[in-house]
Amino acid sequence: MAILVTGGAGYIGSHTCIELIQKGYEVIILDNFYNSKPEALNRIRKISGGDFTFCECDIRDRAGLDKIFAENKVDAVIHFAGLKAVSESCRKPLEYYENNVGGTVTLCEAMRDAGVKKIVFSSSATVYGSNNPSPLREDMPAGGTTNPYGTTKFYIENILKDVYAADNEWSIVLLRYFNPIGAHESGLIGEDPNGIPNNLMPYITQVAIGKLDCLNVFGNDYPTPDGTGVRDYIHVVDLAKGHLCAVDKALSGTGLNIYNLGTSKGYSVLDVIKAFEKASGKKVNYRFAPRRSGDVAVCYSDPTKAKKELGWEAAFDIEQMCRDSWNWQEKNPKGL
Ligand code: NAD
Ligand code: UFG
Repeated sequence: MAILVTGGAGYIGSHTCIELIQKGYEVIILDNFYNSKPEALNRIRKISGGDFTFCECDIRDRAGLDKIFAENKVDAVIHFAGLKAVSESCRKPLEYYENNVGGTVTLCEAMRDAGVKKIVFSSSATVYGSNNPSPLREDMPAGGTTNPYGTTKFYIENILKDVYAADNEWSIVLLRYFNPIGAHESGLIGEDPNGIPNNLMPYITQVAIGKLDCLNVFGNDYPTPDGTGVRDYIHVVDLAKGHLCAVDKALSGTGLNIYNLGTSKGYSVLDVIKAFEKASGKKVNYRFAPRRSGDVAVCYSDPTKAKKELGWEAAFDIEQMCRDSWNWQEKNPKGL
């Protein structure tokens, strides 16, 4: 089976391509390197011991997409490509709607015209907004997103639901990721953010390696056991494996299905700092700072549906996530 992976040079995409290649799928990677580097492709080859086709292309480039579908057999698409920085999305909402929503519409038009109607989409726990209590279940109402990035995910989910309602030959899997951290055990690929990281784990590893001075812990007055925000951190390799189950589901028939990919466990910011210090042997300098706007107090998954219907379950614990994040950072202090 041949899978087109948009955004395959990025953090989650590169880990997923390794799993796909190792399981014998033919892989075609599409990326415009907006937030990734060509070196990621060399690393995918090195780790997987296999090869793939690469197309430097933008998902908004209809002619480029048509050429890819004309020149390659594609059975399904895993669609990672998108912009993902929450704070940037508040400053540049139009760029986020154009790239994420517009790009997905263009991709789906090209897919439809090429007769490829199977897609796995990278959605996010952010679509649960701030009104649902954790553990979050797929049947809870989505919406009430707190930033344009999250709203792009909510809109794209709705667009894909409409696409399926209009033509039920489509097979669509919406994956709502919780908080991916960690890296491949080789330390050859991992999260490589441009500039100052927005997310907790890359910030922690950059403080530990001495690149940044001090972590700001955003809020210590939340209604949580230690006052700091609680999230469901998931190892990126577990997440990558979830995509193999999801793509098998997409290939096996038609329909629209939604799955949480999380662990069901919530860890506070202070829990993560402690686990990281233990795993790395490094001290993480931190101070309490005001709450970050748009953050919810608690967000963790009920992943029962993915276990029951996809046979997928996260295997790695927070220690392993921290060890692998640190291994990647130590081996690549400047990123790729
Ligand atoms: P990433 O930025 O590392 O990867 C995204 C890739 O898409 C990058 O290689 C980038 O160059 C590419 N890209 C962006 N716009 C493109 C375009 N118009 N055309 C072609 N390529 C384009 O991000 P990631 O962490 O790997 O996330 C992958 C997907 O998962 C994204 O859609 C993201 O919103 C979603 N997601 C991520 C998280 C997270 O915490 N990392 C959580 C929930 C959902
Ligand atoms: N945090 C800090 N200091 C930092 C960064 C984060 O204290 O420098 C805290 C946050 O306040 C939050 C926790 O660490 O309590 C996790 O924050 P992240 O920024 O790592 O992750 P978020 O939960 O805010 O969001 C992430 C992705 C989104 C995705 C969401 C899904 O960035 O794209 O997970 O749950 F939608």
